[in-house]
Amino acid sequence: MRDGFSSCWQMEPAPEFEELSGDAHAGTVIVGGGLCGLLCAYELLERGAGDILLLEADRVCSGTTARTSAKITSQHRLIYHRLISGLGRDLAQQYASANQEAVAEFQRIAEKENIDCDLKTCSAYLYTRDADCWKKIEDEAVAAQQLHIDADVTDQSELPFHIASAVRFENQARFHPLKFAYRLAELLRERGVRICENTPAEALEENTVLTEAGRVTGENIVICTHYPFVNLKGLYFTKIVQNRSYVIALKKAQKLENMYLGCGGDGFSFRCAEEGNESLLLFGGFPRKTGHELDTDYYAELEREAKRLYPDSAAAFRWSAQDCMTNDSIPYAGRYKQLGERVFIAAGFNKWGMTGSMAAARVISDLIVSGKSDYGDVFSPQRKNFAMQAGKYFTEAGDTAANFLRGYFSVPMKDVSDLKNGEGGIVNYRNKKIGAFRDTEGSLHCIKPVCTHMNCPLKWNGEERVWECPCHGSRFDADGNVLQNPALHELERTGPQ
Ligand code: FES
Repeated sequence: MRDGFSSCWQMEPAPEFEELSGDAHAGTVIVGGGLCGLLCAYELLERGAGDILLLEADRVCSGTTARTSAKITSQHRLIYHRLISGLGRDLAQQYASANQEAVAEFQRIAEKENIDCDLKTCSAYLYTRDADCWKKIEDEAVAAQQLHIDADVTDQSELPFHIASAVRFENQARFHPLKFAYRLAELLRERGVRICENTPAEALEENTVLTEAGRVTGENIVICTHYPFVNLKGLYFTKIVQNRSYVIALKKAQKLENMYLGCGGDGFSFRCAEEGNESLLLFGGFPRKTGHELDTDYYAELEREAKRLYPDSAAAFRWSAQDCMTNDSIPYAGRYKQLGERVFIAAGFNKWGMTGSMAAARVISDLIVSGKSDYGDVFSPQRKNFAMQAGKYFTEAGDTAANFLRGYFSVPMKDVSDLKNGEGGIVNYRNKKIGAFRDTEGSLHCIKPVCTHMNCPLKWNGEERVWECPCHGSRFDADGNVLQNPALHELERTGPQ
């Protein structure tokens, strides 16, 4: 599941694991070998619950974990003031404590297991350049302090522009996510966890995961597949939307000790990473809903902004990440009750996959081992936080319906024979609408432009040369292979080949 753009983390050599061969059984079957799946396995082992089998559709941590900006922080934009107002102090405290403990748990594991992953303790800043946002920053700092987070307000930063104010969280961290995750995977293997790569789960029947290679039964099943691969029963396709955002890694920019994020949807993200003796500045922004706003070259926009801030800089890497966003900005971690008491789900980490993964792994491990978790209520997949949703649920549901209509009524742009090299999109072929891409050699790659998840019409992303679904965010390469769930099946090939 690769999309042609590599992050700076992906230079790290990955460990390899065998595919599943034949039927298997385990105490706990974890579906999904991203950071969350690995952490679930680790936390279960720490609690004495061995006999774990982990299935990964592709390679371990080859999805979102490889494309994160890897900020380990409980600072999740402007959330704590909203949590206290919307859910009350107790649930807000659960969220704060779970994420603060997640930060500390990364530090504990790295130290205990002696994992060399460039982990550095630092501060996280949520800044605004707009003097009118001062009150929001102030409210967030007060809310965080009420929840026992070490937070304050400042107008000082390392950034190359003046900020109006920022809320600063102390004792947060940054690291190299793949150095951490790959070593963790090796440790898990050494401790008896069976990890199977290139083994996609196709369906779940009670306590049995069906794969092409065999049937895997478990006393407990944990679904950590970024977007839940079983999403119809829990109606997750109505509760999760997928967003993309863009990152470039700059050489000759600036060495920052701390991590920064601009307040508001269009705020830029800054953090440094080590590359040998050099420092890379990870500069990110431009979040958009997957399958929407496809007319902009976001990498070019980021590079233009980077040049303005750091005239001597040059982009050494560029990549984009896909995140599952929940209606109420809180991840789902707990029992997937529609599938039974022994099936668990971790999903919807919003933009905070590091602490979200760790918090979810700890909640689920506690539920499996002791039947309860101190933070089970706030992350419960069964919650109904209407006060936090502010009508967004209905916006997303309406958006999905509108996409069907747009796809139905939209007109093909041109005939397939008119496509130039490097060009793709919806085209006309023998009076039928098909999706086509003509590669740089002139060969055509044609598909039926209908998503295999729930039949939404697809859109072409010309910058990354992939098909995107505007309904729930599945992505496919030019040949129709699945790059990102929830779709599990490739697109139908059609047209001139
Ligand atoms: Fe749901 Fe495409 S991702 S219809």
